[in-house]
Amino acid sequence: MVAQLHLLQQMKMAFPVRLLLFLSSLYPVPISVFARTDGKVDPGDFLSATAGNSSSWLSPSGDFAFGFRQLENSDLFLLSLWYAKIPDRTIVWYANHGDSPAAVAKGSLVNLTADNGLVLTSPQGAQLWKSESISGVAFGVLNDTGNFVLQDDNSGSLWETFDNLTHTILPGQDIEKGGKLWSQQSETNFSKGRFELRMQDDGNLVLVTINLPTEFANAPYYASDTTGDSNSSTAGTKLEFNSSGYMYVLRENGEKLTIKEAETVSARSFYLRTTLNFDGVFVQYSHPKIFTGNVSWSVVWSVPDNICTMTIDSGLGVCGYNSICTLRDQRPTCACPKGYSLLDPNDLYGNCKPDFIQGCEEDKLSPTNDIYEVQMLSNTDWPLSDFMQLNPSTPESCNQSCFEDCLCAVAIYRVETCWKKKLPLSNGRVDSGLNSQAFIKVRKGNLTLPVPQRPNPDDKKMKNQTTLIRMGSALLGTSIFADLMLSAIVCMGFFFIYQKKHSFLPSFTYKELEGATDGFTEELGRGAFGVVYKGILPIGSGVPVEVKKLNCAVQEGEIEFREGEIEFREGEIEFRMEVSMLGQTHHKNLVRPVGYCDEGQKRLLVYEFLGNGTLANLLFGDTKPSWRKRIDIVSGVAKGLLYLHEECSTQILHCDIKPQNILLDDCCNAKIADFGLAKLLMMNQSQTFTAIRGTKGYVAPEWFRNMAITTKVDVYSFGVMLLEVICCRRSIDMENVYEERAILSEWVYDCYLKGLWDPIVDNEMEALHEKTKLERFVMVALWCIQEEPSLRPIMKKVVQMLEGVVEVHVPPCPSPYSRAG
Ligand SMILES: *[C@@H]1O[C@H](CO)[C@@H](O)[C@H](O)[C@H]1NC(C)=O
Ligand SMILES: *[C@@H]1O[C@H](CO)[C@@H](O)[C@H](O)[C@H]1NC(C)=O
Ligand SMILES: *[C@@H]1O[C@H](CO)[C@@H](O)[C@H](O)[C@H]1NC(C)=O
Ligand SMILES: *[C@@H]1O[C@H](CO)[C@@H](O)[C@H](O)[C@H]1NC(C)=O
Ligand SMILES: *[C@@H]1O[C@H](CO)[C@@H](O)[C@H](O)[C@H]1NC(C)=O
Ligand SMILES: *[C@@H]1O[C@H](CO)[C@@H](O)[C@H](O)[C@H]1NC(C)=O
Ligand SMILES: *[C@@H]1O[C@H](CO)[C@@H](O)[C@H](O)[C@H]1NC(C)=O
Ligand SMILES: *[C@@H]1O[C@H](CO)[C@@H](O)[C@H](O)[C@H]1NC(C)=O
Ligand SMILES: *[C@@H]1O[C@H](CO)[C@@H](O)[C@H](O)[C@H]1NC(C)=O
Ligand SMILES: *[C@@H]1O[C@H](CO)[C@@H](O)[C@H](O)[C@H]1NC(C)=O
Ligand SMILES: *[C@@H]1O[C@H](CO)[C@@H](O)[C@H](O)[C@H]1NC(C)=O
Ligand SMILES: *[C@@H]1O[C@H](CO)[C@@H](O)[C@H](O)[C@H]1NC(C)=O
Repeated sequence: MVAQLHLLQQMKMAFPVRLLLFLSSLYPVPISVFARTDGKVDPGDFLSATAGNSSSWLSPSGDFAFGFRQLENSDLFLLSLWYAKIPDRTIVWYANHGDSPAAVAKGSLVNLTADNGLVLTSPQGAQLWKSESISGVAFGVLNDTGNFVLQDDNSGSLWETFDNLTHTILPGQDIEKGGKLWSQQSETNFSKGRFELRMQDDGNLVLVTINLPTEFANAPYYASDTTGDSNSSTAGTKLEFNSSGYMYVLRENGEKLTIKEAETVSARSFYLRTTLNFDGVFVQYSHPKIFTGNVSWSVVWSVPDNICTMTIDSGLGVCGYNSICTLRDQRPTCACPKGYSLLDPNDLYGNCKPDFIQGCEEDKLSPTNDIYEVQMLSNTDWPLSDFMQLNPSTPESCNQSCFEDCLCAVAIYRVETCWKKKLPLSNGRVDSGLNSQAFIKVRKGNLTLPVPQRPNPDDKKMKNQTTLIRMGSALLGTSIFADLMLSAIVCMGFFFIYQKKHSFLPSFTYKELEGATDGFTEELGRGAFGVVYKGILPIGSGVPVEVKKLNCAVQEGEIEFREGEIEFREGEIEFRMEVSMLGQTHHKNLVRPVGYCDEGQKRLLVYEFLGNGTLANLLFGDTKPSWRKRIDIVSGVAKGLLYLHEECSTQILHCDIKPQNILLDDCCNAKIADFGLAKLLMMNQSQTFTAIRGTKGYVAPEWFRNMAITTKVDVYSFGVMLLEVICCRRSIDMENVYEERAILSEWVYDCYLKGLWDPIVDNEMEALHEKTKLERFVMVALWCIQEEPSLRPIMKKVVQMLEGVVEVHVPPCPSPYSRAG
């Protein structure tokens, strides 16, 4: 454990480390005490998938373990085989259904049966997976080679993991004709990915991309060229990884074609494995068997040398459409060209989309011809996708020809030839040997795309109204502080949902509530909305409640948002309908509304009473709450917010997420308060100006830009709060404005870049012990506070990332614009 921690502390985002990150994303599970020492397993033996107390079977030397591994922060377990003595416990095999992992729920069992071999059953007893339909199993044995073998009475092999290929092969393992390894979806997702290593029936060993969900293979990007076409005696028979650690294609005539000439590493003193990585590179790794300190896997060799420059005849290529592949440390990295961005911001190897509209129709609409600018990249090419070739040409005429052609997205100039290409571009790569120029057309200006559709199903109800406030770039000239104030005002006053159904939230008379609060005496707090009082409803032995008295000085009207404009609509707000919408919310992470009162100017809301204060009290109080408690609370808030955004009958934007608005119940469960209030508050501006001070620092930048307001404003505020929860520090430290930590987000990003984790949690051991989780939470927070709203994940993704069920990619700098200056 100590070694692991030490190891993790040393990590940088270098290539072996990325691997390590992935591998360490699986929880350590203690090894069972009842493992036999001879590696043998008898029929009737079983293992159960249990958190923290899962059991495994060990090979005689203890090098390998077979059993359940919990997928990080998920309730799912993977029946797998791993290196038991290496801190990151690298998985070399896992139970699968051919193309998907057999991830199972907690409490699932794997039994060794004489009649059916290994059988994986759910806690309810349903069969989920089995080794194969075999009978006559005398015993199973986990060999020191890393092979789990089911044997019959004569010690003949009936089934073995070495024959059930996943992504890795080990010394002593072969791949026969027809066999294949497949890549994972991503570093953390065990589903089948786009790459395969195939030992073909014609004797050729190839690496191919396949077009999922079919098995259709594109032309190989690596081939051993051991087909028997010219001379059948030189045809390949199988891929062999012999026990001394040599890997070669064995030919019919007994000759060996080495996959890659490299200095040999002794299989006696090193663990060796060869893995088809999720990015399509086939890599041999070594790791010393005896080691101290922060040792990780080293690359012995990899094929192909440069996967980026391998032409793949169809399909996406290594990176997605419109993306550009660059080789770093023998592994591909993908990036979108300027003016393009990732379709799925979390899938760094995925497709890029242009941030602008290009097309002959659209170009015609423009009053001037001067709508594109051209970005020039050297040695970059998308070898396919061309629709026209010009020869002879010059760089200038090539650029000009594309510039004037409304079909042309990119032109490549090389050796007096010009290739004009249209979207989508595929197989993009940087290749220093190309000696080419790429001219990429990007539309000028950055607000050319229509504002993305809000995910609000009621959009169509938005009416065209007189614009009251138009927030544009002019505002940016004012001081940031004033911007924050103004944006907060708008946030408080703004809410764009309409209710759909009516519910039965009980209404109270003002008198009843006056009675319940003993004449509004015990004040619990004040907010932008008004004052909160403690009350007791005379039901049973008395139900404690919180009564929110909404400010009466509210202006009757409604502020709306539409396509970058803030609008103010005169008219009576339908208080009751809004309230009934609140009545329909049910979620354990939301404060439950109990009733309301609507008597003219007297408008009150009644909520369940939560006696354990706010998250702000907890975080910034005298005693630092434990890491575990903080994690639980913030995870709860994420789920509550997900519910508001996506799961309740009408989408609700909170607009004011901050620790002061998160209440804690007796069991320290987090509950979001004040949701839905934004719509109910139509503040008189001067009042709000003084009332919203607590909100600055949590406000998303788009509030003071001419940009669409979406659920991403809450994601931003959540991200700010997440950082506060991780660090137990305020997002803006007003008392120490000149310290480097004054702006928490910037400081954390700096720490993150430098790999300094200790200061982030102030050397808190509990958090540092869960380094992977800490890193993940920090990365998620950095994604949430991206200045560019489209880069921020939606809450669903946030929840999944926090839970560790989806991969968290390296976040970009949250505020590239403000930092540049
Ligand atoms: C191992 O630790 C040493 C010093 O503690 C450090 O220089 C080195 O980079 C670390 N290696 C890895 C792979 O993290
Ligand atoms: C751990 O497993 C052992 C053996 O099955 C069992 O006796 C023990 O109660 C388990 N402990 C927990 C905390 O589940
Ligand atoms: C591995 O075994 C499972 C269960 O028998 C089977 O579904 C899967 O196709 C096998 N995979 C390979 C590559 O043989
Ligand atoms: C697996 O073993 C457990 C414990 O002995 C038993 O309850 C269960 O019925 C067995 N399942 C199968 C499929 O044999
Ligand atoms: C297990 O490994 C040993 C060498 O470590 C080998 O002699 C034996 O044949 C292997 N058994 C099986 C079933 O592969
Ligand atoms: C095939 O190759 C083997 C060994 O390389 C050689 O001995 C044999 O003559 C060849 N056969 C033909 C038909 O070329
Ligand atoms: C593995 O192959 C190498 C290279 O051909 C050979 O020198 C070595 O003896 C082989 N080892 C075994 C155990 O067959
Ligand atoms: C490409 O052509 C356009 C239009 O004439 C021009 O504005 C731009 O500067 C040219 N770019 C390069 C790199 O030559
Ligand atoms: C728009 O583009 C200009 C020039 O490219 C840049 O200075 C400005 O920051 C951009 N604005 C936004 C909101 O991205
Ligand atoms: C809103 O205004 C646009 C142009 O100003 C007009 O085309 C559209 O029909 C209007 N929509 C409604 C719902 O009035
Ligand atoms: C929350 O309430 C419980 C029981 O009322 C109490 O034991 C606990 O100390 C409280 N926690 C906080 C942070 O106030
Ligand atoms: C893994 O990837 C597959 C295919 O893209 C996807 O369907 C699945 O949901 C992913 N699993 C997780 C846990 O994200």
